[in-house]
Amino acid sequence: MPRVNRTVVLYLLLISSSVFLLFQLYYYRKYVSKPGPHILSRTGQLTSSDVQWLTVKSFLALARRFRMPLFLIDTAVLSLLSQDALRQRDRLVPEPHCGFLCTDRPITAFALQANQWKYDVALPLAAEQKGFELLELRGEDPRLASLDTLSGDDIPLHFLFRLHGYVIQVVFLYERSGNYLWHGALRLHADMDRSFAAFKQLEYGRHAGAYDRPELVLTVLDGLDVRIPRNVTRFLSEQRHARFLECRYRDARNFLQLYPDDSSPDAVDFRRKVKQLLHLAARTLARINVPFWLSSGTCLGWFRQCSVISYSRDVDIGIFIADYRPDIISAFTDAGLKLKHKFGKVEDSLELSFLSFDVKLDIFFFYDDGDVMWNGGTQAKSGRKFKYVFPPFSLCWAELLELKVRVPCETVDYVTANYGASWSVPVRTWDWKTSPSNVMENGVWPPGEWAELIQVY
Ligand SMILES: *[C@@H]1O[C@H](CO)[C@@H](O)[C@H](O)[C@H]1NC(C)=O
Repeated sequence: MPRVNRTVVLYLLLISSSVFLLFQLYYYRKYVSKPGPHILSRTGQLTSSDVQWLTVKSFLALARRFRMPLFLIDTAVLSLLSQDALRQRDRLVPEPHCGFLCTDRPITAFALQANQWKYDVALPLAAEQKGFELLELRGEDPRLASLDTLSGDDIPLHFLFRLHGYVIQVVFLYERSGNYLWHGALRLHADMDRSFAAFKQLEYGRHAGAYDRPELVLTVLDGLDVRIPRNVTRFLSEQRHARFLECRYRDARNFLQLYPDDSSPDAVDFRRKVKQLLHLAARTLARINVPFWLSSGTCLGWFRQCSVISYSRDVDIGIFIADYRPDIISAFTDAGLKLKHKFGKVEDSLELSFLSFDVKLDIFFFYDDGDVMWNGGTQAKSGRKFKYVFPPFSLCWAELLELKVRVPCETVDYVTANYGASWSVPVRTWDWKTSPSNVMENGVWPPGEWAELIQVY
C-alpha cells in the first residue's frame, strides 16, 4: 500500500475516535449526570417528593455558604445505600428522580462536626431569607464537667430547619476526651414550640449518643453533593446502639465529700494501672469484635464516683456468652496478659481471669435466661458453684478514665442487684461468695470434671 494512503487512514481513525469521544461526553452530560428531579416536567405541579428534594437542596446551599462540615446520618436514606439495599436495587426499577433523599419521613438528619465549625451569627437571618424557620436547641457542655467543676456553658446541640413541612435536623457532634464523637439529648424548654417538628419521629436526640469517628466520602445523591460515612453498614449498626450515659458528676461529688478519695501513692498507682489495663482490654476485645461492659466493682466505681474504687484491687468486665469466641484467651495472652484461672465451660458459668502485673482482670460471661441474666462463680478448692442474678439489661456507652466503654443502661438496677440498696455506702471487706445481694448457691461441679472446669495457673 502506498505511503500516502497509510497516513490518510491514520487521520481518519484519529478523527473518528475523537468524534466518538465527543459523543460519549455529550451522552454522559445529557443522560447520566442529569441532576435531580425534572421538576414541573410532567404535570406542572410539585409533588411532595419534589418539595422534599428542593428543601434539602436549599438547605445544602445554605450549609455550603456557612461552611458547615456536614455529613448525612439519616438512617432511612443510609439504609438505601447499604450494601444489601444496593444489591436489591439493581433488580428494581429505580425511582425516576429522588430515589434516595425523598423518604416517606418528613425529616432528614445530618451531623455537623462541631469542632470544625464556628457558629456564625448571620446564619439565622440567612436561613430565614431562604424561607427556613430555625429552632436552635442548646444544652450544657459535658466536656467541661468533671469531678472538680460542673459545666455552666451552653453549647448548640441540635438545629432544626423547617421549610414546607419538612425538617432538616442537624446533630452537633463534639470530640470527647476518650477520642470519640458525642451528641447531646434533644430537650425542649417549656417556652418552645412543641409542634415545630414530629419530635417522636426524630432518630437522634431521644438520648445522648456516642460514635467512633467515621471515615467520610463525598457522593452524589439525587444530583446533590453530600458526604456520607464510607462504611454505611457499620455506621447503621453503631447508630442502633449509640446511647450514651453521662457520669453523674453531681452525685459523685457529694459521695466524695462524704468519703474522700484515697490519694496515697499506692492508690494513685493502682488507678494508673487500672486505666492501662482497661484501655488494653478494650483494644484487645475490639480487635476480635467482642463487646464488653463494666461489671461488679468497676461498674460501681463508674456509677457512684465516676472513677475507680481504689481498694477494689481488680477490674471486672462482663461479656455475653453469645459473643464468646475461643480466641479470647489467646488475644489476651498475645497482648501480654497472663491467664490466671479459667472456671466453668461455655455452656455453664464460664469465667476467665488474667493478670497484668499485680492487677487482675476478671471476665464474667453472662447467660440470658429471658427473665433474668446471670453469671457464675466457682470456688476452686471446693468445686462449689455460685450464681449472680441480674434483671435484664441493655448496653449503653459511657466514659471512664478517658475510655469510651459500655455499661448496663439500667445501671442503678444492675448495681442495686449486685450491692443492695445501700450501694452508696463503701464496704471495704467483701466476700464474693456471701456479700453480693444477688449471690445464690448453685451446686457443686462433679469431681470427675474438675480438671477441665477448674483450671488455676
Ligand atoms: C463495613 O463494616 C462492617 C461491620 O463493621 C464490616 O464487616 C465490613 O467489612 C466493612 N466493610 C468494608 C468495606 O470495610
